[in-house]
Amino acid sequence: MDPLPLFLLLLPFFATLSSAADTISANNSLPGSQTITSAGGNFVLGFFKLGNSSSRYYVGIWYKKVSKITPVWVANRETPVADQSTSELRIAGDGNLVLLNQSKSIVWSTDANISSNSTLAVLLDDGNLQLRDESNESQVFWQSFDHPTNTWLPGSKVGLNKVTNRNQHLTAWKNDDDPAPGIFSLELDPNGTSQYFILWNMTTEYWTSGIWNGQIFSNVPEMTANYVYNFEYVSNSTENYFIYTVKDNTIISRFVMDVSGQIKQLTWLENSQTWILFWSQPRQQCQVYSFCGSFGSCNENALPFCKCVQGFSPKSQSDWDLGDQSEGCQRNTPLQCGRSNSSRTEKDGFLTMSNMRLPVNSRTLSAVGSDGACEAACLSDCSCTAYSYGSGGCSVWHGDLLNLQEQFNGSDASTLYLRLAASELQSSKSNKGTVIWIVVGVAVAVLTCLAIIWFMIRRRRKRQMMRASKAVGGGLVAFRYGELQHATKNFSHKLGGGGFGSVFRGSLPDSTVVAVKKLEGILQGEKQFRTEVSTIGTIQHVNLVRLLGFCSEGSNKLLVYEFMPKGSLDTQLFQSNSAALDWRTRYQIAVGIARGLAYLHEQCRDCIIHCDIKPENILLDDSCVPKVADFGLAKLVGRDFSRVLTTMRGTRGYLAPEWITGVAITPKADVYSYGMMLFEIVSGRRNLEQTEDGTTGFFPTLVASKLKSGDVGSLLDHRLEGEADLEEMERACKLACWCIQDDESCRPTMGQVGQVLEGFLEVNMPPIPRSLRVLAETPEEINFFYEFSSNQSSKTRSATSNSTQTKSTASNSSGV
Ligand SMILES: *[C@@H]1O[C@H](CO)[C@@H](O)[C@H](O)[C@H]1NC(C)=O
Ligand SMILES: *[C@@H]1O[C@H](CO)[C@@H](O)[C@H](O)[C@H]1NC(C)=O
Ligand SMILES: *[C@@H]1O[C@H](CO)[C@@H](O)[C@H](O)[C@H]1NC(C)=O
Ligand SMILES: *[C@@H]1O[C@H](CO)[C@@H](O)[C@H](O)[C@H]1NC(C)=O
Ligand SMILES: *[C@@H]1O[C@H](CO)[C@@H](O)[C@H](O)[C@H]1NC(C)=O
Ligand SMILES: *[C@@H]1O[C@H](CO)[C@@H](O)[C@H](O)[C@H]1NC(C)=O
Ligand SMILES: *[C@@H]1O[C@H](CO)[C@@H](O)[C@H](O)[C@H]1NC(C)=O
Ligand SMILES: *[C@@H]1O[C@H](CO)[C@@H](O)[C@H](O)[C@H]1NC(C)=O
Ligand SMILES: *[C@@H]1O[C@H](CO)[C@@H](O)[C@H](O)[C@H]1NC(C)=O
Ligand SMILES: *[C@@H]1O[C@H](CO)[C@@H](O)[C@H](O)[C@H]1NC(C)=O
Ligand SMILES: *[C@@H]1O[C@H](CO)[C@@H](O)[C@H](O)[C@H]1NC(C)=O
Repeated sequence: MDPLPLFLLLLPFFATLSSAADTISANNSLPGSQTITSAGGNFVLGFFKLGNSSSRYYVGIWYKKVSKITPVWVANRETPVADQSTSELRIAGDGNLVLLNQSKSIVWSTDANISSNSTLAVLLDDGNLQLRDESNESQVFWQSFDHPTNTWLPGSKVGLNKVTNRNQHLTAWKNDDDPAPGIFSLELDPNGTSQYFILWNMTTEYWTSGIWNGQIFSNVPEMTANYVYNFEYVSNSTENYFIYTVKDNTIISRFVMDVSGQIKQLTWLENSQTWILFWSQPRQQCQVYSFCGSFGSCNENALPFCKCVQGFSPKSQSDWDLGDQSEGCQRNTPLQCGRSNSSRTEKDGFLTMSNMRLPVNSRTLSAVGSDGACEAACLSDCSCTAYSYGSGGCSVWHGDLLNLQEQFNGSDASTLYLRLAASELQSSKSNKGTVIWIVVGVAVAVLTCLAIIWFMIRRRRKRQMMRASKAVGGGLVAFRYGELQHATKNFSHKLGGGGFGSVFRGSLPDSTVVAVKKLEGILQGEKQFRTEVSTIGTIQHVNLVRLLGFCSEGSNKLLVYEFMPKGSLDTQLFQSNSAALDWRTRYQIAVGIARGLAYLHEQCRDCIIHCDIKPENILLDDSCVPKVADFGLAKLVGRDFSRVLTTMRGTRGYLAPEWITGVAITPKADVYSYGMMLFEIVSGRRNLEQTEDGTTGFFPTLVASKLKSGDVGSLLDHRLEGEADLEEMERACKLACWCIQDDESCRPTMGQVGQVLEGFLEVNMPPIPRSLRVLAETPEEINFFYEFSSNQSSKTRSATSNSTQTKSTASNSSGV
């Protein structure tokens, strides 16, 4: 028998068993081995434990339908119990719900004032646990929604009670294995405005949502494109709060104050059994205040983001391993200062750290007028730990350094001089002079000889390799890791990064310039990897980047591609210093990408969904022919793709809604991303950063309104000064609107997109996608395209296409 029907048979049976068990009453406590389930089967309350440590149990609420236990609320955050089986959750004599440990001591209580001699606790279907009067449902003494931990569930509120002046906080966990309150929290402005703040250590605010304008928070313009949630703000004399709901209640979604110091909205993706990141703020990890702790340094371009500065190590390595750096780092060697010891006269020195975001809480020494004097001033003060001398004069720091960031290229990047004990600095300077130089000289000579020998051996091996490797499918070359290390000068010239790994420039022995992609997160076995790669190798099209070879040695998985001298489309479109692409070129780029994708979707042996279409993944060759990069990689990462997706930063704007709603992904997801990109090709700016009249808005919304008013000309990249074919522009805008329809069956196929752009298919006025409907309340009927017979000249396109359209068969074929 098929297991599925059997499972369905059992389901109602379980449902009847558990239907009564959503309450804890005076006579009916909850022992550690049991759980209760809400009436509709959405949430479970019970004991759980985290990580591998077997001796910490918590009482919490989690999703019944999510296979990975995901607590949304924890009772005893700071007071775990050691043994689950002998602990219990029960109604105490005073009517409160309490947690008793092994020795029957109370370790957690609802601590409410109870004016009833009989209470019970009920777990509701929205995840709320209520303690209420047994005979009167509306007499609620306590509820978990009023005491959120790190999660804000749909239907609950996070706000400010103006009567008691109590401000609710969402407080991050300490780390992924410990729900105790961490250092980051979210609160509504205690002063009474409608903005949220994220705080470090309950004191330092490092992010604000901006004021609510009725539809969006001013610093979160991407909310305009929100098709998933309803937000409501309530402000009256007793309270201020926000409440949100999910429009489609089959979507499982949660909002968390994450251990990373970012707020995140996550959605459960049943297909791949993972939580997908829908949105997060602040966007960059290093914008989180003091994320790496004292003497820790954050680097946006590295993983992990945090490391201790030179001469320091983590105070608690185990916490760092769990992603909690709040304790920061400690000095390896104490400073010499203040411990004058005549037998040792080595002085402290300074380590030069350039391109730094300077730490907070500096003191300015206004009387000091030179770099040297600044150094001397710091050296003479034993509590001084660093100095910096710049246009603002001499700044010094005392005590811990917080909020350091390296490889920082904001306008206020500076050089910091960090004070270290002399022994920590030995590498940088040496006054032992000649002896050292002789040693260095000899070493260099020996190394040079070795290098030459090694190089020759390598070369011979390489030739052998090249000959041997022709056997691999798709004409791909199988490289050795060392060869690629050499070709890329040990991965020194980074071209870019992405969801799948970083890309480096390299040069092969025959001086072919290549782009080498170092893949991350590939868990596939050797054989499967080779199979997938040779499949990718066989896919060749003028609008797809050509794979030349690969390397697979243990965990080192690399792909070698042809090098594209003009780089990616985003640099051409968005960087103000590059000359703007003219309209002809842009249109040809749009056509080329459509052809490349249509080939992937429709003409390959296996349909390939790209999954990550965005300007960063479109490369341009010398003559601006676009080539789609990174195709096939989603498949390579396989089931783990959603994990990669969650780590992709900055691509949310291109994600089709079905990624969030969790239905199966089809090639139409690429069509959506293509549409989003097409808007950007027209406007030369990011969809989210459009400013019309100085306001931040969402470009597709603007397009929809301009299409209605017939003024598409104003949408063009202003750098082109109106130099464009208006008919083509209108076609591109309409097409882009069709591509971003919420309902994937309304989107054209990639083949149709190409035909429209090339003028073989005419396009109707698009309906405004539901997500952009805010501005037009007119109901839209959905008509698609009508086809020009291919022998008809494309010149006969009628300018009055709007009035002469007929429905076409395209509508059927576009519903996959
Ligand atoms: C609880 O148990 C006591 C004694 O066993 C009984 O008198 C009482 O009615 C019970 N209460 C409920 C709510 O079942
Ligand atoms: C638990 O322990 C196993 C074996 O020691 C280890 O492989 C696994 O990664 C651990 N899991 C966690 C979450 O620490
Ligand atoms: C139970 O909790 C009490 C109070 O917190 C504590 O003193 C006691 O050691 C705990 N007992 C066990 C077995 O953990
Ligand atoms: C509980 O009730 C007492 C007496 O009625 C009152 O003093 C106290 O403030 C109340 N506590 C809370 C948390 O409401
Ligand atoms: C509740 O208290 C009232 C008065 O204090 C008493 O009459 C009643 O019997 C009590 N009920 C229970 C179930 O203890
Ligand atoms: C139930 O409690 C509510 C709120 O405290 C109260 O207004 C109502 O009168 C109570 N109903 C009964 C039947 O006691
Ligand atoms: C809140 O009000 C206090 C006192 O009026 C003021 O000092 C503080 O700057 C205000 N905070 C914000 C964020 O406006
Ligand atoms: C957080 O603030 C408290 C006092 O408000 C202070 O004692 C503690 O050291 C701070 N934590 C860190 C990591 O600085
Ligand atoms: C404020 O709003 C809340 C929720 O809508 C409501 O329960 C409360 O009665 C309101 N208070 C006033 C004074 O209007
Ligand atoms: C001076 O340094 C020596 C060797 O490191 C040590 O044994 C001695 O205790 C130090 N004296 C003082 C006063 O610190
Ligand atoms: C600025 O930093 C970003 C990443 O933080 C990096 O990609 C970029 O190349 C840097 N630009 C310059 C001019 O250094």
